[in-house]
Amino acid sequence: MKILVINGPNLNMLGIREPGIYGSETYEDLTRVITDAAVGRGVDVEIFQHNHEGVIVDKIQSALGKFDGIVINPAAYTHTSVAILDALKAVSIPAVEVHISDVSAREEFRQISYVRLACIDTFAGFGFDGYVMAMDRLITHLKN
Ligand code: DQA
Repeated sequence: MKILVINGPNLNMLGIREPGIYGSETYEDLTRVITDAAVGRGVDVEIFQHNHEGVIVDKIQSALGKFDGIVINPAAYTHTSVAILDALKAVSIPAVEVHISDVSAREEFRQISYVRLACIDTFAGFGFDGYVMAMDRLITHLKN
C-alpha cells in the first residue's frame, strides 16, 4: 500500500511558527512520526511539502496510478482552494484531511474547508498524531 502525505504552506515552519498553536516540534519531527508509523504498518509513504498551490495540484495529479491513498494537510489552502479540491476529485484517490490544530475552535474563516468535500474523513486538533490517525483511517478504508 502506497500513501502520499501532502503538507501545504508554512508547515515547513513548524517549531518556529506560533508554537502556542502548533507546538514546538519541527517539520523534521513530523516526518519522523509519519515515517515511523508507516514502517510499523508496512506502508510505503512519501511525504511532500510545498508552499505553492499549483505545485500541490501538480503533485496530486502525479499521484494518479502511483498512490493508493492521500493524507493531506492543505494548511491555509484548506480554506481557499477550489483548485486543490478539484485535483483531489479529478484523481479520485481516497484522501483524508488533517489539521494539527483544532480549526473548529479558531477563527471564522477557518471553519470553511473546500478540500473536505473530496475527503472521506477529517482529523483536526490531535497534533502530529492526527497524521497517524489519518493513515489508519485510509488503511481501514483501503482494506474494505
Ligand atoms: C492548519 C490550520 C490552518 O488553518 C492553517 O492555515 C495552517 C495549519 C493546521 O494544521 O492546524 O497553516 O492546517
